[in-house]
Amino acid sequence: MNIIKVDDYQAMSQWACQHIIGKINQTNHPVLGLATGSTPEGMYQCLIDSYQAGFVSFKDVTTFNLDEYVGLAIDDPNSYHSFMQDKLFNHINIREEQTHLPNGNTKDHQQECKDYERLIQQAKSIDLQILGIGLNGHIGFNEPGTPFTSRTHVVELDPLTREANARFFNQKQDVPTHAITMGIETIMESKEIVLLVSGANKAEAVKRLVTGELSESFPASILKQHDNLTIVVDQAAAVHLN
Ligand code: GLP
Repeated sequence: MNIIKVDDYQAMSQWACQHIIGKINQTNHPVLGLATGSTPEGMYQCLIDSYQAGFVSFKDVTTFNLDEYVGLAIDDPNSYHSFMQDKLFNHINIREEQTHLPNGNTKDHQQECKDYERLIQQAKSIDLQILGIGLNGHIGFNEPGTPFTSRTHVVELDPLTREANARFFNQKQDVPTHAITMGIETIMESKEIVLLVSGANKAEAVKRLVTGELSESFPASILKQHDNLTIVVDQAAAVHLN
């Protein structure tokens, strides 16, 4: 595990952006695992700026997102499909058919999970997976108690997660109760993982990750078993780390 401490959100975003650009430029047909939430927004803006400045091309890039809400139409403003279009895909030269998110608005969610998992397997493996962390240690939407052996599956969202994500919705009741998420084992099969952590509200979570025990009650704890994990943490989130 490699821990990189940076000053602030902007420095974290810049680091992640440059790391992704390096990976894209060094890899033949790179496969990226992408995350949503507030944490990666600055990184995405930096990638857009870098594309517009001619430093990177997404022509040969394939992406797989971690998760999607169940029951939201793809074009719902709060769907993760919409998030990715707005924050990245609409502004770069990525081919739409090479971007993937689970579809949370199908009739058969179990089949959707199997199909999504198969697509990831067919893409060889994810070269670089970007992750954020939930306040309760979730990665993707793998909530506490999720088996470390899980593959892409449907989850019931933890009340804490629904509360944390209510800020994006008109009212708390509008936050979906379920989501489809890449499984923990699927995430762990990525060749490299970069976990981004920013802000004082994440300080406890990152402390527990770095110093705590391996436990399914804290899903992110599995990441320490990965042989190519980098945690990029800003000062506010790193207050409890030595
Ligand atoms: C969300 C996402 C996760 C994300 C996490 C933290 O619900 N499903 O992929 O990493 O929670 O979100 P944020 O970056 O907004 O703090």
